Amino acid sequence: MSTTTERQPLLHDATVTRRVDFGHGYFELFLEAPELAASMQAGQFFNIRVRNELFPLLRRPFSSFDLIKDVRGRPTGVSVLGHVVGQGTRMLAQMDEGDRIHLNGPLGHAFELPEDPNTRIFMVGGGIGLAPFLHSVRQWGGGEPARDLVLLAGARSQRDLGFMKRFANAGANVLIATEDGSVGVKGRVTVLLEAELAALKGKPAMVLTCGPWAMMDAVAQICIQAGVPSYASLESIMACGYGVCNGCVARVKADTDEGFRYAKTCVEGTVMDCSKLIW
Ligand SMILES: Cc1cc2nc3c(=O)[nH]c(=O)nc-3n(C[C@H](O)[C@H](O)[C@H](O)COP(=O)(O)OP(=O)(O)OC[C@H]3O[C@@H](n4cnc5c(N)ncnc54)[C@H](O)[C@@H]3O)c2cc1C
Ligand code: FES
Repeated sequence: MSTTTERQPLLHDATVTRRVDFGHGYFELFLEAPELAASMQAGQFFNIRVRNELFPLLRRPFSSFDLIKDVRGRPTGVSVLGHVVGQGTRMLAQMDEGDRIHLNGPLGHAFELPEDPNTRIFMVGGGIGLAPFLHSVRQWGGGEPARDLVLLAGARSQRDLGFMKRFANAGANVLIATEDGSVGVKGRVTVLLEAELAALKGKPAMVLTCGPWAMMDAVAQICIQAGVPSYASLESIMACGYGVCNGCVARVKADTDEGFRYAKTCVEGTVMDCSKLIW
């Protein structure tokens, strides 16, 4: 994958303009950051310095969930879809209008679409791994030519999908699977993917996926078997976010004695070709 922007990562001071709580630890933080919004592409991420204090020391990586525009269509900011898992996300979940945060980005490579506009693009997300796909719907849905986009959303339960109305409001074509059957098809999201790929009848397709490693692994194996190209947005644990610390490596196939090499996902990805990863 080649980068879709030649811009260097920039530092931004962003102002929180709104916070929405979806329950069960999920929240959306709207950030005013026009320069970042103007350069951010779907699939890229930014690193948030949660607080201008010693702790938490490291910046936390997040996808841009939504791209915010003004009435004239000019990008004014981005939003973060967050899920509370620790100290940093807990602090973000408590932020309010007027709070300031520091972030750097865009980081990493964007998703790239195939040239053939007839290619059906499946976005397969699990839980908080759905975060990069609203920006994708905004970026590609209204494009010229219009892209054939299908979002396959998976979660354990309806309570992990309180934010799905944001996709519905954006006009996304969504199919849902939950493990407990509380909404959509009962089962894993891979059930939906297998059915959709089987129904293609020769139509070209591509799969983008983001979520838990085991889900992406299953998605990758289904796609490899079906001969459909697939790309995973890896949410590796990161420290620096720009290639210095080696904290984010994944194994990719390579012509070495071991048959693989370590790739720094923050700079080589985080969008990686599924067929090249060692799962
Ligand atoms: C490129 C990228 C994009 C991301 N986008 C989003 C997003 O849009 N929304 C969102 O909510 N989260 C996203 N994440 C994950 C998010 O960065 C982490 O959840 C966050 O850094 C945790 O910070 P914390 O201080 O709350 O938790 P910590 O106190 O740092 O950790 C709490 C627990 O979470 C685990 N953890 C920390 N980071 C990760 C991770 N990357 N993957 C899995 N487990 C982790 C830790 O091992 C620990 O068990 C993304 C990660 C990456 C790399
Ligand atoms: S997070 Fe430091 S090298 Fe990738």
